Amino acid sequence: MGRKKADRYGFAIREAQEKDLPEMVGFLARLALHVSGAPPHDLKESEHKRLLKTLRSSLDDPNRRLIVAESTDAGLVGMGYVYIWRSQGIWEQSGSEEFKSGIIDDVWVEPEFRNLGIFKALLRDLVAFAEQHHASELTLEYAASNKEAKAAWTKLGFKTTGVRAAAFTSVVKQVLTESQR
Ligand SMILES: CC(C)(COP(=O)(O)OP(=O)(O)OC[C@H]1O[C@@H](n2cnc3c(N)ncnc32)[C@H](O)[C@@H]1OP(=O)(O)O)[C@@H](O)C(=O)NCCC(=O)NCCS
Repeated sequence: MGRKKADRYGFAIREAQEKDLPEMVGFLARLALHVSGAPPHDLKESEHKRLLKTLRSSLDDPNRRLIVAESTDAGLVGMGYVYIWRSQGIWEQSGSEEFKSGIIDDVWVEPEFRNLGIFKALLRDLVAFAEQHHASELTLEYAASNKEAKAAWTKLGFKTTGVRAAAFTSVVKQVLTESQR
């Protein structure tokens, strides 16, 4: 269904190129704002450059795939990224067997192009790349407050495997102080 809808609206998924990088930095900035829930901000020039450099380093890396969704009318409307993480295992008993995992990150679809199947089209490409590299598992992180991410990932079969927790230092200190009394 997703693929048919995307085709009808004239989207293509392709590998990112150097010329796409400035716009992709804009996507990453909007993703960061979306996750933090903050109002619009401008990226510092140094951060803009750092993100450009990070994205550029993925372009020719055979273990990384950086892709964009492009609309015939509107240009770039989304992006996605996966890299292959390799582990030799830490146990004597596991021998020299290499374990490969696909780490998915930086998936973004522009708000006015959502619910057209672009996310699923991006994921089809990233999953094909992971499969080609024999990555038997895919992992990713999203903020617990990110409702559409939770919905989209859960529909694809992702299950929560851990929890990242945060607290104000002052709160933790207070709890510890009270527990001493
Ligand atoms: C999450 C996101 C990538 C989904 O993109 P999209 O192109 O709108 O998703 P699709 O149209 O391909 O939909 C994929 C599935 O997720 C579901 N879905 C998407 N957004 C949803 C929402 N807000 N609530 C419930 N379900 C949703 C769709 O219904 C669809 O399900 P289906 O397979 O049953 O039809 C997009 O909302 C986004 O960019 N959000 C902000 C950035 C973000 O959260 N990125 C992920 C960070 S890890």
